[in-house]
Amino acid sequence: MKKENEFSPHKDFYWLSLFSLVLFFLVLIAFYRQSHPEWKKYQSRFKSYLEENVGREAASSVAISVKQIWLPELNRVDRCISCHLGYDRPDLVNAPPPFNSHPDIEPHSVSKMGCTICHWGQGFALKKKEAHGEIRHWTEPLLGKTMAKRYGFDGGNLLVQINCNICHRRDDDVPGMETINLAKKLLARKPRCQTCHIIDGIGGKTAPELTFAGDKPAERFDFSHLKDKLIENERPLSILSWHYDHFLNPKAVVPGSKMPDAGYSDREAWALAMLMMSWRNISLPVMLMPKRTAEAEVSAGEDVETVGLSDIERGKLLFESEGCSDCHTIGKGVESGPDLKGLMGKREAGWIRRMILNPEQMEQTDPLAKKLYYEFDELGMPNVEITEEEVEAIIMYIASIK
Ligand code: HEC
Ligand code: HEC
Ligand code: HEC
Ligand code: HEC
Ligand code: HEC
Repeated sequence: MKKENEFSPHKDFYWLSLFSLVLFFLVLIAFYRQSHPEWKKYQSRFKSYLEENVGREAASSVAISVKQIWLPELNRVDRCISCHLGYDRPDLVNAPPPFNSHPDIEPHSVSKMGCTICHWGQGFALKKKEAHGEIRHWTEPLLGKTMAKRYGFDGGNLLVQINCNICHRRDDDVPGMETINLAKKLLARKPRCQTCHIIDGIGGKTAPELTFAGDKPAERFDFSHLKDKLIENERPLSILSWHYDHFLNPKAVVPGSKMPDAGYSDREAWALAMLMMSWRNISLPVMLMPKRTAEAEVSAGEDVETVGLSDIERGKLLFESEGCSDCHTIGKGVESGPDLKGLMGKREAGWIRRMILNPEQMEQTDPLAKKLYYEFDELGMPNVEITEEEVEAIIMYIASIK
C-alpha cells in the first residue's frame, strides 16, 4: 500500500507520454477538420459525380471553394450552394441530393433572392446541421420535407409556403401556395377574425392584434396546457404546433378563451397556423416585392441623390448604399470584414483601390489580400462594381474618419 504512494518517475513518465500522445492526436484531428471541412467533401464528390456522368471538362470547371450568393438588399449571404452545387443546372435533375437541380421557381431568381428567404436555415453556415438550422438557438430551421414529416405531412414540402407569403401576402390565389390560399379564404368566412382582432389596422379590440402575428417570439406563448400532449404525440414543441391546436380548440390551449371554436378541419387549422407564421414585418426591397405588395407600401427612397455634395459626403452615402457598411465599420470593430479605421496608415492607396475594384483577383494573387481572405473565414469581399471615381470618394470618406 505504502509503496504505491511513493514518488515514481517511471509511472509519471507513462502518464505524461500517454497525455502528450492524446494531445498530439487531438491536434491532428483539429488540423484535419480545419483542412477538410464538410463542404469540401461535397465538392469533391460533386466533381467525381460530374466526371463519371457528364464529362471530364464539366468536372474540371468546378473550383473547390466556398460559394455564396450575396444579397446586400436583404442583408444576407447564402452559402447553401457550397453543397447544393447543381441547383442551377437543369441537366442534373436526376443527380443525387444535394447535387440535383432545383425545381423550377420561375419567375423568381435565385441570384436576386438567395435560398433562405424561401427555405429558412442559416445562410452563412457551412456545416449541414448548422446550415439547415437544426441547432438550438436558431429560430428559423429549414422548412423542408424532413420538417414537414415531423408534423405528419406526407410527401411535398408545404411548409415553405409560410415564406412565400412573406412576399405574397397581398395576393389571393398564387399557384404553389395552395395551403396558404385556403387560409386566406377562411379569413372571409365566419367567424370573421376582424370581429375581434385588428389586422392591417382594421378590426375589433377585444383580442390581440394579428397584423404581425408571426413576429411574436416563442417565449411569449404559453405552452403549459399543450406541452404534455405534444410530447405524448411526439409533435414538435413549436409556435406552429401552438397555433394549430389553438385553431382546433382555443379553450384547450388558453383556458377560458373567448375565441370561438369554429370547427376547422385538420387541414384548415394547419393552413391558418401557417398563415399566422407568415405575417411578419420584414422589410423587403421594392424589386423583390410582387406588384400588389409593392404598391401597398410607400415607395422608399430610390437611388441615392449625390449631386452637390462634397466628395467625403458622397463617399459616406456610397459606403452605405453600396453595402460596404453591411460588412465593415470604421472604428466600431470587426464585423464580417475588417474595421477600416486607420486604413490609409496601413495600406497603399493603389492597393486599396485594387482591393475595392477587383477583390476576387486580389484574393487570388495578392499575398496580403490572400491572408485577409483566410483570416475572414474565406467569406470573400464581393465586387460591388462601382466606378473608379466612386471608389475615390469612398476612400476619402474612410480617410476622413480619424
Ligand atoms: C422562391 C422560393 C425558393 C427559393 C428562392 C429557393 N427555393 Fe428551394 N425550393 C422551393 C420550393 C417551392 C421547393 C419544392 C418543394 C416541393 O414541392 O417539394 C424547393 C425545393 C428545394 C430542395 C429539395 C429539392 C428536391 O429535389 O426535393 C432543395 C434541396 C432546395 N430547394 C434548395 C434550395 C437552395 C440551395 C436554394 C438557393 C440556391 C433554394 N432552394 C432557393 C422554393 C425556393
Ligand atoms: C454542408 C453541406 C450543405 C449545406 C451548406 C446546405 N445543405 Fe441542404 N442538404 C445537404 C445534403 C447532403 C442534403 C441531402 C439530404 C440530407 O442529407 O439531409 C440536403 C438537403 C436539403 C434539402 C431537402 C431536404 C428537406 O428536408 O427537404 C433542402 C430544402 C436543403 N437542403 C436546403 C438547404 C438550404 C436552404 C441551405 C442553406 C441555408 C442548405 N441546404 C445548406 C447539404 C447541405
Ligand atoms: C422575396 C419575395 C418573394 C418570395 C419569398 C416569393 N415570391 Fe413569388 N413572386 C415575387 C415577385 C416579385 C414576383 C413577380 C410578380 C409580380 O411582380 O407580381 C413573384 C411571382 C410569383 C408567381 C407568378 C405570379 C404571377 O402573377 O405571374 C408565382 C406563381 C409565385 N410568385 C409563387 C411563389 C411561391 C410558390 C413562393 C414560395 C415558394 C414564392 N412565390 C415566394 C416575390 C416573391
Ligand atoms: C369572437 C372573437 C374572436 C374571433 C372571431 C377570433 N378570435 Fe382569435 N382570439 C380571440 C381572443 C379573445 C384571443 C385571446 C385568447 C386566446 O389566445 O385564445 C384570441 C387569440 C388568437 C390568437 C393568438 C394570439 C396571440 O398573440 O396569442 C391568434 C393567432 C388568433 N386568435 C387568430 C384568429 C384568427 C386567424 C381568427 C379568424 C380566423 C380569429 N382569431 C378569430 C378572439 C377571437
Ligand atoms: C459581404 C461583405 C463585404 C462587403 C459588402 C464589402 N467588403 Fe470589404 N472586405 C470584406 C472582407 C471579408 C474583407 C477581408 C479580405 C477578403 O476576404 O477578401 C474585406 C476587405 C476590405 C478591404 C481591405 C481591408 C484591410 O484591412 O486591408 C477594404 C479596403 C475593403 N474591404 C473595402 C470595402 C468597400 C469600400 C466596400 C464597399 C464598396 C466593401 N469593402 C464591401 C467583406 C466585405
